[in-house]
Amino acid sequence: TLAEKITERISERIFCKTFQAIQEERREQAERSVLISCPSKINEKKFLDYLSKHGTINKHFFYNSYGAYAVVEFSSRESIASLKESINIPAVEHEAAVPFKSRLLSFKWPGSQSSSHPMPKFKVQSPPSINEINQLLSEKDSIDEQLQCLTEALELTEENVSLRFLVCSLLRDITGAYFPECIIRPFGSTVNSFGKLGCDVDMILDLEGIYATSQKKGSGLSLEYQVKRGASERAVTQSILSVIGKCVDQFGPGCVGVQNILQARCPLVRFSHQPSGFQCDLTANNRVAMKSSELLFLYGQLDPRVRHLVFGVRCWARVHSITSSIPGAWITNFSLTVMVVFFLQQRNPPILPTLDRLKELAGPSDKCVIEGNDCTIVSDLSKITLQQNTDTLEKLLQEFFEFYGNFPFNKASINIRKGKEQTKPETTALYIQNPFETTLNISKNVNATQLERFVALCRESAWLLQQKEILNRSSDSPWGFAALLLPSVTSGAGVKSRRKRKLEPASSRIKNLLDSLKIKGGETVAKKGSANSSS
Ligand code: GTP
Ligand code: MG
Repeated sequence: TLAEKITERISERIFCKTFQAIQEERREQAERSVLISCPSKINEKKFLDYLSKHGTINKHFFYNSYGAYAVVEFSSRESIASLKESINIPAVEHEAAVPFKSRLLSFKWPGSQSSSHPMPKFKVQSPPSINEINQLLSEKDSIDEQLQCLTEALELTEENVSLRFLVCSLLRDITGAYFPECIIRPFGSTVNSFGKLGCDVDMILDLEGIYATSQKKGSGLSLEYQVKRGASERAVTQSILSVIGKCVDQFGPGCVGVQNILQARCPLVRFSHQPSGFQCDLTANNRVAMKSSELLFLYGQLDPRVRHLVFGVRCWARVHSITSSIPGAWITNFSLTVMVVFFLQQRNPPILPTLDRLKELAGPSDKCVIEGNDCTIVSDLSKITLQQNTDTLEKLLQEFFEFYGNFPFNKASINIRKGKEQTKPETTALYIQNPFETTLNISKNVNATQLERFVALCRESAWLLQQKEILNRSSDSPWGFAALLLPSVTSGAGVKSRRKRKLEPASSRIKNLLDSLKIKGGETVAKKGSANSSS
C-alpha cells in the first residue's frame, strides 16, 4: 500500500548516514589504498599474497585504462608505510626520475606469466554507448522501468567512486608537502549522487584545517605566524594554485596536460590523471560549491524519483546537445538539476521541500555561514517529512517537459529556496537563483538561442509523450523514453550535420506524427524550431 511504501522510504532514511559522514569514510578508505599498474594477465592470487605481507587487504578491484590497474585497500594505514619501505625508485635508462614516493605503483612480474590461472574480473569505468543504452531501454516494459534502468546503467559505481577518492588522496600527498593539514575533497557530481560514469572529478583544496588550532586566551601573550600577504583572497588562491599546478605537472606521476586556469571566476588547475582516466579540476577556497553538492545529494536521497528524473533529463539534454562538455552559452548539468528540483517542488502535493524548509529543520550543529551567506541546511534526513505524492515517473517526465515548455522565462526566475517562481531581477535569458549566494544567477551564461532550443525540445518531447503511439512497446523501433532520444525534427538545426546520418526509419515515424501536428495547427512548436535553424 501507499502508506507502507512511504514508511519504508522514511525508515530507509533513518539509517542513512549524513553527507559528511559518508565523505569522511570514503576519504579515510582512500588514505589506506594504493593504485597499482599491473600486467593484464595477472595471477590475482599471487598478487594478493604478495601484498598481504604488509597487512590485511580489505578490498581490491581491477580495471582497464590504457593498461590494467588494481586498487588495493588495506585495513590499516601502517600497511601503506610498510609497503613503501619495500618499494624502490626505478633506475631509468637514458633518463632521470623525480624521486617522488607516491602511492601510484607498478607491479613487476619477472619472466613471462602462464595464462593457465583464471583472469581477474575487470570493473568497467566508462558509461555505456547510446546504442547500448537504447538496447537496454528497449527491453523494459514501461517508462518508469526505463528511467530506473537508465540510472543504473549510468550512475557511478562503488568502485568508480573509490577510485575518485583515491585520486584526490594521491593529489593530497603532493599538496600536503606544502600544507600538511590540507585535505583534497571531491565535490560536484562525484558526490552529489547525480554523477554519470565518465564525468570529471571536481576537487577542492581545503585549507580549513590550518586555522583550526586551539586559540587559548590567557595572559595576553601569544605567538603568531609571520605570513606572506596577497592583495586579496582571490590573489592568494591564485598564487597557491599556480604553485600546486606546477608541482602536479612536474612531480605528479600520471598527471598530464596540466593547465592553470587562474583567471576564471573560480580559479582552477585542470589536468588529466592518466591511470584513472579522469579529467580533474582542482579549485581552492570553494566551500559554497561543496555545500551545493551536499544540498543536491540531500534532494537525491529524499525520494528515488529525483535521481531517476535527473538522470533521464540530463541524458535527454546531452543527446540533443542542450548541454555540452565544452563551456559556453549552454545550460549546464548543475542548472538542469536545479530545474528538476524546482519542478518537483511545484507538484501537488510537492515531492521535494523548499530550501528554506531544509534550513528551518537544521539543528545547532548544522549552522553554516560561508563568506556572509547563510548556507545552513539540515543534515539529519530523518527530520524531513514528505507529503504523499505517488506520481509515476512517466507522468513526472511528461509534466517536466510541459512545465518548462510553458515556463514564463521572460519574467520569472527559478528559486528553489522559496520553491516558487520569483520576478526576474535581471534581463538575462535564464535566471536560476544560486541556492546559497542568493544575489547570483547560476545560469547567467545561457543565451536566448540556447534557452529557445531547450524550450522547443521540451515542447516536442511533451507532445511526443502525449502520443499513445510512442508508448506502445512496438517491434524494433525505439519507444517510450528511447523515442525521446531520437534526433529532434523541430529544433537543434545547429547539430544537424552530426545527426543526419542517424535519421532512421524510427524517427520518420515520429516525423510523420509531427508533420500531422503542424497541419493541425501546432504552430508554436513548428515556428520555434525554424527560428532556431540559424543557431
Ligand atoms: P558534471 O557536468 O557531471 O560534471 O556535473 P557537476 O555538477 O559536477 O558540474 P560541474 O563540474 O560543472 O561543476 C561542479 C560543481 O560546481 C557543481 O556541482 C556546482 O556545485 C558548482 N557549480 C558549477 N557551476 C556553477 C555555477 O554556475 N554557479 C555556482 N554557484 N556553482 C556552480
Ligand atoms: Mg563535474
